[in-house]
Amino acid sequence: MRAELAGLREQALTDIAACQAETELEAVRVRYLGKKGSLNAILRGLGGLSAEERPAVGALANDIKDEILARIAEKASELASDGLRRSLAEERTDVTLPGRARPRGHTHPLRAVEQEIVGIFVAMGFSVAEGPEIEDDFHNFGALNFPPDHPARDTQDTLFLTLADDALLRTHTSPVQIRVMRSQRPPLRVIVPGACYRRDEPDATHSPMFHQVEGFMVDEQVTFADLKGVLVHFLRRLFGPETGVRFRPSFFPFTEPSAEVDIACSACAVTGRPTPGCRVCRGKGWLEVLGSGMIHPNVLRAVGYDPEVVRGFAFGMGIDRLALLRHDLDDLRLFFENDLRFLGQYPS
Ligand code: DAH
Repeated sequence: MRAELAGLREQALTDIAACQAETELEAVRVRYLGKKGSLNAILRGLGGLSAEERPAVGALANDIKDEILARIAEKASELASDGLRRSLAEERTDVTLPGRARPRGHTHPLRAVEQEIVGIFVAMGFSVAEGPEIEDDFHNFGALNFPPDHPARDTQDTLFLTLADDALLRTHTSPVQIRVMRSQRPPLRVIVPGACYRRDEPDATHSPMFHQVEGFMVDEQVTFADLKGVLVHFLRRLFGPETGVRFRPSFFPFTEPSAEVDIACSACAVTGRPTPGCRVCRGKGWLEVLGSGMIHPNVLRAVGYDPEVVRGFAFGMGIDRLALLRHDLDDLRLFFENDLRFLGQYPS
């Protein structure tokens, strides 16, 4: 039996030395020392030994068991440090590799033009106001002197909401004139950027959601000359100091007199005369950029001002079209598709 134990010890130590992984070590332990392992198989013969022999052989079996366990633990830690050494030797981190660039966002080209416009008026002492995109009939039409059945309400192609009887998406930024004038007293110089909505089929020049900047000034001595001075200055800041500007008589319910304002076509300006078939102005030589006028006495009355005491001028422009002009583009949809290949060309 001693010879059997010695053989087992010999074999177990050889097996342990040959192990390449922790799982193999565990298999060796179970094979030799487990309940059904070879050591127990040998020890079952213990009963056949003499009473003097038994304790000595039992002690020998225990020593062998301890030795095998110790060898297994030793081998396990050898394997672990081998693994570390190997991965240090074989795996490399190249610290000179460039990092992964994260794409950076920037201001949308429409917003950039809006900020530029607002900035020019802020420099002239205007303050910025905003109003709700969900409006009611009073602010969007009634107080702006649209009579109840005025066809202008149809031409505005209003999007009505079912929220309340007269809830609608504002068709222009002019209702913010009403909101500001009803909550503040003159003198006022205010600029109002914002989104507007109309029932339009989207195409190169129409979008059901678009952007305007509204502006107005109210004080005791305001005249049409102030309107002209402010708008000419503004347009020359935006489009260049030499830009030609002209005022054409027009009509809006909320202004009297009213004027539409054109700038000389920048494409034709190069030749100095309207160019037949010009892509930008279609041969007219002028581009309409805003609507304006002296605030109608009925509007002043609707907000509780006395038209005998204060007067004002107002103007409104579409930002989207100005941004097309600014970037020499011809399709509004480019601004709303949010294709990063397009937007990326207009870093702020
Ligand atoms: N609200 C007008 C529109 O959407 C633009 C406009 C014209 C605004 C004349 C004004 C103005 O303040 O005086 O077509």
